[in-house]
Amino acid sequence: MAEEMETNGYVGSVACQPCHEQQFRAFHNFARKSHSFASVEKMAVNLPEEKIRPCYGCHTTGYGKPSGFVSPEQTPELKNVGCEACHGPGRLHVKTQDPALIRRTVTIEVCKECHTEERVQAFRYKPILYAGSH
Ligand code: HEC
Ligand code: HEC
Ligand code: HEC
Ligand code: HEC
Repeated sequence: MAEEMETNGYVGSVACQPCHEQQFRAFHNFARKSHSFASVEKMAVNLPEEKIRPCYGCHTTGYGKPSGFVSPEQTPELKNVGCEACHGPGRLHVKTQDPALIRRTVTIEVCKECHTEERVQAFRYKPILYAGSH
């Protein structure tokens, strides 16, 4: 356990709320990302599990990465796209409050992990850096 505490990892957006209430509220109330798992659930009714898994890469936090989203049952705190999708894993920052242990500068490259060129063309929708966050 002690060893695990030293490792960085994903903790979910609710863990950020006590200290960043303003960003949390804006994000929770206005960013569709904060409810992105519902979009998958709506369609999941008609899809087999192997068709749903690929959705997780863009509709959850940290899927396929160490300590990231696994399933809605095992990691409910990571089931939507949260703060850490842009700011990176926050466990050590939450523990220490050290600003050096969290990514502040978010670049458009981060957005493109999910807002891929293909999607941008298909949906004619291009993200602008400061939209969709808080
Ligand atoms: C226990 C309080 C606390 C928690 C919980 C917390 N933070 Fe922070 N955070 C801080 C403090 C203190 C700062 C430094 C504020 C300042 O410099 O104005 C900070 C700064 C930041 C910064 C700016 C870093 C910089 O270099 O300026 C980001 C981004 C951030 N936090 C994101 C998060 C995220 C994401 C979470 C949840 C995973 C989180 N924080 C949880 C206290 C906290
Ligand atoms: C981990 C994947 C992921 C990353 C990284 C990501 N997004 Fe998104 N974004 C989504 C998903 C998924 C939705 C749609 C959620 C839904 O409707 O279910 C979305 C929705 C949006 C929207 C729609 C409008 C709204 O207010 O929610 C905007 C704007 C947006 N993202 C901008 C950005 C920007 C800018 C960045 C980078 C700073 C970014 N996104 C990074 C996955 C991501
Ligand atoms: C490569 C990343 C990516 C993958 C994979 C992905 N999505 Fe999305 N999804 C997004 C982004 C980004 C948005 C919001 C902006 C947009 O339409 O480009 C979105 C939006 C949505 C929306 C909201 C559409 C609307 O306008 O209301 C639904 C529903 C959705 N996705 C379901 C799914 C399902 C189901 C899967 C898996 C079969 C899936 N997505 C896979 C990135 C992705
Ligand atoms: C879609 C990407 C995205 C998401 C999701 C996101 N942020 Fe940010 N955040 C940004 C960007 C972009 C900046 C501005 C960075 C800069 O100053 O260059 C930022 C800046 C910050 C800062 C520094 C102070 C400020 O407001 O400029 C804090 C603190 C912060 N975010 C906390 C959070 C918390 C807490 C969450 C979740 C509730 C969150 N962020 C979710 C993109 C995001």
